[in-house]
Amino acid sequence: MLDFSIRYLNVLKTQLSGLNLTNILDPDEFYQKQILDSILPYQESELFKKSVKETGVVVDVGFGGGFPILPLAKLLPEVKFVGVESRRKKAEAVTLIAKELGLNNVKLIHSRLEDFNFDRPATITFKAVGTIGDYLPIIHHKFPAKVFFYKGPSFLQLEGEQIKKVEKNWRLLENQEIKVPGTQQRFLVSFESVNVPRGTAKTLVKLSDFL
Ligand SMILES: C[S@@+](CC[C@H](N)C(=O)[O-])C[C@H]1O[C@@H](n2cnc3c(N)ncnc32)[C@H](O)[C@@H]1O
Repeated sequence: MLDFSIRYLNVLKTQLSGLNLTNILDPDEFYQKQILDSILPYQESELFKKSVKETGVVVDVGFGGGFPILPLAKLLPEVKFVGVESRRKKAEAVTLIAKELGLNNVKLIHSRLEDFNFDRPATITFKAVGTIGDYLPIIHHKFPAKVFFYKGPSFLQLEGEQIKKVEKNWRLLENQEIKVPGTQQRFLVSFESVNVPRGTAKTLVKLSDFL
């Protein structure tokens, strides 16, 4: 993973230097705060591992500069990864990074969560993308879904009230502390859907088109 981290940072500093995809440019810091921070939740959470193994598909929403999707895709070459990012420039830049890093189990899509249809079983991840209360209710899914949010230390104080509002449709499974060396306390907060909503009239981008 260290070599992957060095090559990743090199692409950011050379071909994509004008884009400012991350402000962490020190190699050790980049390894800890971007690479380890992306993969440790998977390595430490049995629930996350089980969901990924069962579905074989991870959809990372709002991947920004490629986190956690690209480090996870490197770690798990047998799993299919689909990224959904609303900023076109980021989706294009991360497509280039994935190509440079030789990752062929990743598809990066310029779309929005609200326009995306999870029409196949998938494990869904969000890292530093808005609040649970805003994002869980706008997931269109046709199968029971498990969703994993990478969160900072004070999320319960910040989002506790909002979580109560989604309880009708989503069950909180776990709020697991993940220790990432040299970085702030990290929590992996997981939910599973309580029911499968009925279809929507909107035409949506389908996950199955990318598998
Ligand atoms: C703070 S960045 C986090 C990026 C990355 N996950 C990380 O941890 O470094 C949030 C990203 O989510 C994207 N985003 C926000 N709302 C979105 C939506 N509804 N659908 C898809 N992407 C979204 C933004 O464009 C932005 O790139």
